[in-house]
Amino acid sequence: MKGSIKGKWAVVTGATSGIGKATACLLSQHGCNVIITGRRAERISALRDELKTQYGTEVLDYCFDVRNRQACQMMADDLSKRGIVPHVLINNAGLAAGKCKIYEGDTEDWERMIDTNIKGLLYMTRCLLPAMVAQGKGHIILIGSTAGHIVYPEGNVYHATKFAVKALNEAINLDLAGTRIRCCSIDPGAAETEFSLVRFHGDAEKAKQVYEGYTPLKAEDIADVILYVLQTPPHVNITNVVMYPTAQRSVYVWDKSGLI
Ligand SMILES: NC(=O)c1ccc[n+]([C@@H]2O[C@H](COP(=O)([O-])OP(=O)(O)OC[C@H]3O[C@@H](n4cnc5c(N)ncnc54)[C@H](OP(=O)(O)O)[C@@H]3O)[C@@H](O)[C@H]2O)c1
Repeated sequence: MKGSIKGKWAVVTGATSGIGKATACLLSQHGCNVIITGRRAERISALRDELKTQYGTEVLDYCFDVRNRQACQMMADDLSKRGIVPHVLINNAGLAAGKCKIYEGDTEDWERMIDTNIKGLLYMTRCLLPAMVAQGKGHIILIGSTAGHIVYPEGNVYHATKFAVKALNEAINLDLAGTRIRCCSIDPGAAETEFSLVRFHGDAEKAKQVYEGYTPLKAEDIADVILYVLQTPPHVNITNVVMYPTAQRSVYVWDKSGLI
């Protein structure tokens, strides 16, 4: 029997754009109440209004930086004051910053990636998982990456953060043994979002080139998989999904002929 997310609460970090936004939309469409987060206040409140109007589900929005441990805790405390224990936590907020040889790397970029992709994910998990454990149910989704499986040149620190997500997915699953709480890392290859724009520090031309000559994944493709994983029955724990565009078979093998 399919599990239902209708009427449950799901936290989606990084819902102002890309995969997080598409996921918040799809979950709302399926009757799930969503807690959307991100740093860009106007986008977060616009999405809240859009989801409420379009799907009539409950939506709470919190504007904060996941690198700020106190801010993560404040959100968790506020939810607990409202009597809400999220059933789902989607740790999606993340980024790549820069792409260059490690000996030329910008240490500020490194810190942004490590603090967001690893520490932000840890803070959110530490703040919200205890209530799930106390309640005896829940589902955590980590957005990893194919970059957490194999390294390409000049990807160095981004890869290190996504390899960490891979390790944390395994660790969380081990530590949740004996509970009904599930954890899955969904690891996409190239998806056209604001990811490359952020990576290349706002250079739109360079970002556009990343997606030329083939059809990349869309944020909605990843949201579909997240929904599938969340809807599996309670005895099924899909722990990892690796998904590439058909034109990309590994971080090294691409068909950029325009065929697919
Ligand atoms: N696109 C790809 O090819 C690809 C492939 C594999 C994995 N991924 C992973 O997918 C996840 C989502 O990326 P995306 O492709 O959807 O990129 P995106 O369009 O740039 O979205 C990133 C989201 O993360 C949020 N975010 C970034 N830093 C944050 C911070 N410090 N605090 C709070 N929120 C923060 C952003 O919101 P604000 O800026 O408003 O805070 C935004 O909503 C990331 O973890 C990324 O590594 C992407």
